[in-house]
Amino acid sequence: MPPDSKMGDFAFPCFRLSKALRMGPPMIAQKLCEAIDKPALCRAENVNGYLNFFLNRENFARDTLQKVMAAPEKWGSSEEGKGKTVVMDYSSINIAKRFHIGHLSTTLIGNSLRRIYDFLGWKTVSVNHLGDWGTQFGKMICAYKRWGTREEVEAGGVDEMTRLYVRFHEEAKAHPELEDEGRAWFKKIEDGDVEALEIFNWFKEVTLKDAMKVYDVLGVQFDSYAGESFYNNKMDRVINELRDKNLLVESDGAQVVDLEPWKMPPCLIVKRDGATLYATRDIAAALYRKDTYHFDKCLYIVAYQQDLHFRQWFKVVELMGYPWAKDQLEHVAFGMVSYEGQTLSTREGRVIYLNDLLQRAQEKALEIINQKNPNLENKEEVARQVGVGAVVYSDLQNSRIKDIDFWWDRALNFDGETGPYVQYTHARCGSVLRKAGDIEATPDYTALLDDEAQAVLRLLARFPEDVRAACRTNEPFMVTRAVTEIAKAYNKYYYEHRILEGEPEAQAARVQLTRAVRSVIKTGLYLIGMEAPERM
Ligand code: ARG
Repeated sequence: MPPDSKMGDFAFPCFRLSKALRMGPPMIAQKLCEAIDKPALCRAENVNGYLNFFLNRENFARDTLQKVMAAPEKWGSSEEGKGKTVVMDYSSINIAKRFHIGHLSTTLIGNSLRRIYDFLGWKTVSVNHLGDWGTQFGKMICAYKRWGTREEVEAGGVDEMTRLYVRFHEEAKAHPELEDEGRAWFKKIEDGDVEALEIFNWFKEVTLKDAMKVYDVLGVQFDSYAGESFYNNKMDRVINELRDKNLLVESDGAQVVDLEPWKMPPCLIVKRDGATLYATRDIAAALYRKDTYHFDKCLYIVAYQQDLHFRQWFKVVELMGYPWAKDQLEHVAFGMVSYEGQTLSTREGRVIYLNDLLQRAQEKALEIINQKNPNLENKEEVARQVGVGAVVYSDLQNSRIKDIDFWWDRALNFDGETGPYVQYTHARCGSVLRKAGDIEATPDYTALLDDEAQAVLRLLARFPEDVRAACRTNEPFMVTRAVTEIAKAYNKYYYEHRILEGEPEAQAARVQLTRAVRSVIKTGLYLIGMEAPERM
């Protein structure tokens, strides 16, 4: 699409054909120009080796709006993923830790990708690969047995578990024998001791209950919560298979896979004390997922910091003789989130918890609504949709690998490129449509020949392509950008044209454009995980 539509609605640069056709680009453009004779569709012009297309605006408007309106909420959907399965591993929180902003991006990107793949006909399986394995859980049980009570943990949730864990480390400084006690409890979990497992599973439940509140607010769902501990009884298969395939070597008493030829440090499989590792569990999980879901793709939506980890164990699975490791496993990496210019550090106490963030977002949105539209019905509900939407939008606004710096003023600005701005445009369409009421007239598409209407139409027409691109690259921001561009173009149209004036047929066409915009924005917002309030 040329940046300036005076150069055509679409352009085709003929330079790349020059070599194969042994002809100068202007000559190619000229020949193509003569060959294309479809006045109902477009007019083509040859300008310096570019073939510039000028659409027949009336037909383009009719065609686009009729296509969108044939099944408005399905515009952009397809069956291209039919018969294919994608497993997505996202959010993947850690037990006994509070859900903080560090797990925001994985949760939101994963949620959006799930919706996008679903929309394109894939079968999706979303997995929350819980961090529920490790010696810390032994220590936590030890601390709980010594200083905790059931009531306090039930009431305090993850905060109380954290308090117990911190206390363990303080006390262990003076009483190192506590470390042994912690280890013994961990061993008990491993050996399936009834009491140990009962406490541990209850810790899990309490953590998930907290997390569920966040998931509910965000509209996030999972098909499976099989986390690290789920693979306890699947470790042997991995280790035996690695050994049978001669991939294990000993290093300082540990078992590792050498990755020197690929210029990576060795992948640690079994520690000297016999314990398996994060990577071992990921390998087991990949094999299990392949056997269980027969995926065509398995995505890991995990921070960029874990890049090496994924490259290492993907390579190990490939070396095990599974060719799919190469083209079906994918680390969908993303950058860091900082908060109003500050990086987040657990150690220095600068942690932002997700439910606090979402709570504040809703409060701030409510303040703004009270100023702008104090008589709005169901203000609380709209404040939730707008506040949460602002957070989601800021996270999915740019290419995922970019670091994000979250600022309230920026996120909640109704005029900038923000979630509330796009939601507001959707609500604006709704208010135009309510004013218009039922129009019986047959749309006259010559009412949409102006540049502003055509700009909106071009964006609506390419929306399906934007969704497909988002899926192909696992980049939700492409949908964010598409809805934002539609909102901007529609607002420009809205300010420069009177929708409900003139002949009823002309009004009908402009109203249909408005209806299509509202519907496509709603779909786009849904695909990134946002709601679209009717009024705001
Ligand atoms: N629980 C891990 C963390 O918080 C993320 C797990 C990602 N998924 C995976 N299969 N490794 O860092």
